[in-house]
Amino acid sequence: MNKALRQTVIAGNWKMNKTRPEAKELIEAIKPLAEKADCGVVICVPFTNLETAVELTKGTNIKVGAENVHFEKSGAFTGEISADMLTEIGVEYVIIGHSERRQYFGETDETVNKRTKAALAAGLKPIVCVGELLWERECGITEEIVARQIKLDLFDVSAEDVKKTIIAYEPVWAIGTGKVATSEQAEEVCKLIRDTLAKLYSQEVADAVTIQYGGSMNPSNCEELLAQPDVDGGLIGGASLKAEQFGVLLNAASK
Ligand code: PGA
Repeated sequence: MNKALRQTVIAGNWKMNKTRPEAKELIEAIKPLAEKADCGVVICVPFTNLETAVELTKGTNIKVGAENVHFEKSGAFTGEISADMLTEIGVEYVIIGHSERRQYFGETDETVNKRTKAALAAGLKPIVCVGELLWERECGITEEIVARQIKLDLFDVSAEDVKKTIIAYEPVWAIGTGKVATSEQAEEVCKLIRDTLAKLYSQEVADAVTIQYGGSMNPSNCEELLAQPDVDGGLIGGASLKAEQFGVLLNAASK
């Protein structure tokens, strides 16, 4: 078991939820719960809540992340936000390639790769999301799909940079559906991701990378998922919007 070689991280993905007053209330409720946590604590919030989140979490162990970033440094890209804009206000993490972005906003492995490199170049820690669709699992090609995503999404990313990257394995069929992967399924693919990293880089690098599971993780299933040797935390949607539920996940990850 090489869990000691990497950090366990619980990251909330708020998606398109919470106005500013609602965000303030949730962050204030999370703070005392996070204080006791013996794991990395990240909240990824909508762009409009980033400054509020950075301000309210100053001096705490909660880190703030964005939910997307553009790959160009600046220019005529109406509606987009650059990595420098995020770091300048104190954002430390960014989710890249979430399946909702791939599904609804035309995100491809090529743009995920470009965003990942831009984020790393600016000093952000990317949380790169990979995962198979239901029919891909049913066709028996989960391993091929996920290994391909890892190779493409991390193309040309150095070993040093990949150690700063979190990979989130999120089977698309488990996101927001209440259908959680079994702990065996989660472990199988997280291990496959680590083995792929070992082939691309080295075992030492692979052992240092935090690999999360995401998809309907909640207080009732988190212990078993987080106990798996290659599951180093979670990317949490629904359960990150309720402080007490998020607190249970933080506790489970601290064991
Ligand atoms: P969920 O979302 O926990 O609501 O399934 C996870 C995610 O999309 O990151």
